[in-house]
Amino acid sequence: MSSVGIERISFYTSRYYLDLALLAEKRGIDPNKYLQGLGQEKMAVLPPNEDVVTLAATSAKQALDGIDTASIAMVLIATESGIDQSKALGIWVHHLLSLPKSCRVVELKQACYAGCASLQLALSFIHTHPDKKVLLIATDVAKYGLNTPGEPTQGCGACAMLLSSNATICSIEPEYGAYTSHVMDFWRPNYREEALVDGKYSTRIYLNALEECWNEYQLASKRTFNDHARYCYHIPFSRMAEKAHERLCKLSIGTNFPEAISDSLIYSRTLGNSYTASLFIGLASLLEQASGDLSEKRIGLFSYGSGCVAEFFSAKVSTGYQKYLKKELHEELLAKRCALNVSEYEAFYQFRLPQDGSEYQVNPHQCGAFCLTGIKNHERLYSKSTMP
Ligand code: CAA
Repeated sequence: MSSVGIERISFYTSRYYLDLALLAEKRGIDPNKYLQGLGQEKMAVLPPNEDVVTLAATSAKQALDGIDTASIAMVLIATESGIDQSKALGIWVHHLLSLPKSCRVVELKQACYAGCASLQLALSFIHTHPDKKVLLIATDVAKYGLNTPGEPTQGCGACAMLLSSNATICSIEPEYGAYTSHVMDFWRPNYREEALVDGKYSTRIYLNALEECWNEYQLASKRTFNDHARYCYHIPFSRMAEKAHERLCKLSIGTNFPEAISDSLIYSRTLGNSYTASLFIGLASLLEQASGDLSEKRIGLFSYGSGCVAEFFSAKVSTGYQKYLKKELHEELLAKRCALNVSEYEAFYQFRLPQDGSEYQVNPHQCGAFCLTGIKNHERLYSKSTMP
């Protein structure tokens, strides 16, 4: 059997962004705090006619371009910004993309970790059903309060991966190190749109979880720091991933060279946190932006979900992976976004659909392949967009 892992990967984010230098000026903060202290340049801002469904559906459409979808047996959606307490948002995506009726569709939640959990569950399924494929989509909108310390770390995005026993991009190795601990570093009660976060505490917990996972992973794999050519971390903001890498280097007395993680941070620096999707957008960034050939190289990956569950695992890059990437599409998406000023950002931020489910038509804005057109009888309505 050929190796099990990622056959395709593609992400999508909003077509609107805010330059954090403008936000810093408006909030009376030195712009270098955001640029250097957090390592963030821009953040993606969702327009009213996009949500986690449209983000997910557009990323999946891109990932599945040219693929025969008949063998997709399961759609797993990882999110912590779900739109319904009962129905999996993947069913809207399944409908919008006309995926096979024989599919299982389910939504998974454990903060930003749910993408990694979905990946591991999918791989076990593919090992026992090697003729079947899984579509995994991590999709999220990161929202903190206006004028809070978390504000410059907002963002949004979705990353879709086609997983199969034809891992043309990278295979996922079986060894892992996981860690769970009951902590209240970041959470979002059902009655709130924005997360509650103990920011500084969350960064300490993140690093502690990394240490615990790394120890477990090393025990399981017998690998050392230098057995990994590159590293990808969960990226709530770029500086956090850099700090994680510094911690791992120190723990392992490994050689810290910037290229080990810098390429994985390129996309996130300009789109911000995308929670469940951020690790995988980091992986896409690394594979697409790395200067050398990564074929047959091992990548260490760290997923962190507040609350908290974390996991360290690894991927082996496939020979010839480059031709399956969507580098030009992603670069064009990021390059052609519309800049917002702070008032426009705040207007998008404050937009809410009617909370009583009453009929409402959403104004059109730039969007991906699908858009949210409105709400009627408590039901969100979507359509294909007419955007090119
Ligand atoms: N020039 C350069 N650097 C500057 C600066 C300046 N003028 N002013 C400040 N800085 C530096 C600070 O020294 C600091 O760097 P160090 O951490 O290396 O010391 C950095 O900028 C940030 O400054 P503060 O610590 O003062 O920032 P803050 O307290 O206002 O907010 C934060 C930082 C707590 C991360 C906040 O942005 C936040 O709450 N973010 C959301 C929570 C989060 O992302 N947590 C990450 C772990 S949890 C997780 O990963 C899950 C998830 O996705 C949420």
